[in-house]
Amino acid sequence: MQAAKPSQNRKSKIINLKSKMLLSIETSCDDSAVALLDMEGNVITSQISSQTALHERYGGIVPEIASRKHLTTLPLLLRHVLRESSVKLTDLKGIAVTYAPGLIGSLLVGVSYAKTLSWITKAPLIPVDHLEGHLLAPFLDHKELDFPFLGLIASGGHTHLVVAKGLGEYSLLGKTMDDAAGEAYDKVAKMLGFQYPGGPIIEQLAAGCPKPSIEFTVPLKGKKNLDFSFSGLKTAVRNEALARKLYVEKKKLISFKEFSNQPDSPEKDMIRDIAASFQLTVEKTITGRVEKALNKTNLKQFVLTGGVAANRGIRKSLTKLAQKKRKQFFYPQLEHCTDNAAMIGYTALQYLKSGRIDNDGLLRLNASSKSPIGLMNVQKPD
Ligand code: KG4
Ligand code: ZN
Repeated sequence: MQAAKPSQNRKSKIINLKSKMLLSIETSCDDSAVALLDMEGNVITSQISSQTALHERYGGIVPEIASRKHLTTLPLLLRHVLRESSVKLTDLKGIAVTYAPGLIGSLLVGVSYAKTLSWITKAPLIPVDHLEGHLLAPFLDHKELDFPFLGLIASGGHTHLVVAKGLGEYSLLGKTMDDAAGEAYDKVAKMLGFQYPGGPIIEQLAAGCPKPSIEFTVPLKGKKNLDFSFSGLKTAVRNEALARKLYVEKKKLISFKEFSNQPDSPEKDMIRDIAASFQLTVEKTITGRVEKALNKTNLKQFVLTGGVAANRGIRKSLTKLAQKKRKQFFYPQLEHCTDNAAMIGYTALQYLKSGRIDNDGLLRLNASSKSPIGLMNVQKPD
């Protein structure tokens, strides 16, 4: 069995052992994550074991591989987290777990594990919607953020623009009609010959081309609604790659490092140009949609969250928008943008504190690939 490799830069803080702890588990996709928070919401430790190395050669996540890996990694991560924090199972005051949405096999591993821990410790089981976890993640790093705010959740599976009025009170303003923003990054990277996840690679490629030359059409520009669409842009990139003989469906997918180590060539410059032009179009798309939503809602604060929130270009463009519109803009620290258990713990804690957790029957909790009570089903306001 391979030892779980906890990510770097997640040092444990000095903890107050008198205060009880909340344990959180996140396994909705390809990252196994476990965190401990104190009852004030401070992150004591947040560990992530990435499966990227297992999936990158396929250019996307293989669900079966993901769930099997969670199964072997979770016990190791839990042991590591408890040991490094000197916390015992009897110190736990709640067990939070992502139960939806995501890959069903992956979710089932986390949910079964959390149920077992809850049964052993008698600590309440707190089911958390993954999207709500992302939405509230900026609170981990910004104590000044408060409800109500406008939120854009942009990840590998979702692009949701929501108004967050209060805990559990969300209304959906718009969402993607086809590919999610992160999915578009991943697919564009793959068609240019790069491994999964594509977002960070496209960002690095784009940084090597300060003056992108291709003018891709900004999707849904001029449309009144607040939905998103990325599949047309993805096709435009594909056509550009085909025209330049760069489309490499069957070639072995490479990392950014391998690309950097290749000798310079006009082909490499063209790849950088396509990546930078795509990046710029995504920035314009997202910024345009957020501006429209701010005009419509007149909210004073907005957040960008989810894996795509790690993108510096999009952050920069939204920071400029915030200055122009005199709004406050928040995004999580890098480690809280992509999937992590700290955001799941934080969300669970808010529900625990609000007294809305009833442990009766929760051991019958099931995982769900869709979000039955979360943000997927909220009604669009009139
Ligand atoms: O939130 P997340 O970790 O998992 C989901 O819930 O889907 O998001 C993963 C997605 C992937 O599609 C990945 O390519 C994208 O986030 N991503 C980025 C960046 N870092 C991760 N997209 C653009 N720029 C980045 N720097
Ligand atoms: Zn996510």
